[in-house]
Amino acid sequence: MAEKMDAKLDYNQKKEEVVVDANRKLRIGIIGCGWIADSHIDSYKRMPDVEIVAGCDLIPGKAAAFFKKNGVEGVKTDYASHKEMLDDESLQLDAVSICTYNRQHAEPAIYALNKGVHVMLEKPFTVTIEEAAEVMKAEKASGKVLSIGFQPRLDPNMQMIKKIVDSGELGQIYYIQTGGGRRRGIPTPFGTSFIEDKTAGLGALADIGCYSLDMVLNAIGYPKPLTVTGYKSDFFGKDPNYVGYGAHHEYADLFGVDDFAAAFVRLEGGIILDFRIA
Ligand SMILES: NC(=O)c1ccc[n+]([C@@H]2O[C@H](COP(=O)([O-])OP(=O)(O)OC[C@H]3O[C@@H](n4cnc5c(N)ncnc54)[C@H](O)[C@@H]3O)[C@@H](O)[C@H]2O)c1
Repeated sequence: MAEKMDAKLDYNQKKEEVVVDANRKLRIGIIGCGWIADSHIDSYKRMPDVEIVAGCDLIPGKAAAFFKKNGVEGVKTDYASHKEMLDDESLQLDAVSICTYNRQHAEPAIYALNKGVHVMLEKPFTVTIEEAAEVMKAEKASGKVLSIGFQPRLDPNMQMIKKIVDSGELGQIYYIQTGGGRRRGIPTPFGTSFIEDKTAGLGALADIGCYSLDMVLNAIGYPKPLTVTGYKSDFFGKDPNYVGYGAHHEYADLFGVDDFAAAFVRLEGGIILDFRIA
């Protein structure tokens, strides 16, 4: 089978060449200057056709400190919210990175799209299905690009998996297992925004489960789900005796999301998707 696959699939395919016009810079703003915003700014700094012009955070002074720490000067940060920043027409923003906690994904995304600005929105897309529908409506009406932080889609391994699926070598796919688990305990090294309901809204299910689901669904072309039986629980996060990586006893009281989730999904085309995440 390996020989047959090699004949059809080029494992050493060259990367597509991207033509960059450094004279036409994209004007970028960053909404939410916490942990993941560091990765966004690292990437933007390496792009010759990008200029970071603004940033904001709900916590006063956090955006200014963030740009200072990252060595980026001349960025406007005197905004109390994403609204103030997006209302500032002098910025002439082309796009924003939305790096806020999950409960603050939909609102800034809709606001930015309504302002005619492209959006790079962190995963998970939204916390509720209603929010998801509203964001998609705003995207369609704006004609702008909305991209979600599903970087594994661009990983060469994932692209190869998609290619293998597309090549038909696997035959008819009728059963998929996906999911996984993190073994570093309650995710609190940078604060509690991942475990509190008011900021995260969802726990392991959305935080890392969304990658597992997106990776397989993207590989097989996103067939429509027909039925879903789901389950989630919080035994581990609610256990006051648990002290793990960065976690303390008092986090058990704050813990308002799931730490385990499972689902049995029937997809169009007779496919069963068996999912669990912890
Ligand atoms: N793609 C990835 O690999 C990856 C990795 C880690 C986190 N994330 C995602 O990134 C998001 C943020 O995670 P984090 O670890 O950076 O969280 P964080 O809590 O460290 O930072 C979020 C920041 O957003 C700010 N904020 C919230 N609402 C705001 C608003 N309306 N306007 C301005 N600022 C606002 C908060 O004050 C906070 O400083 C989460 O949704 C998470 O799932 C993605």
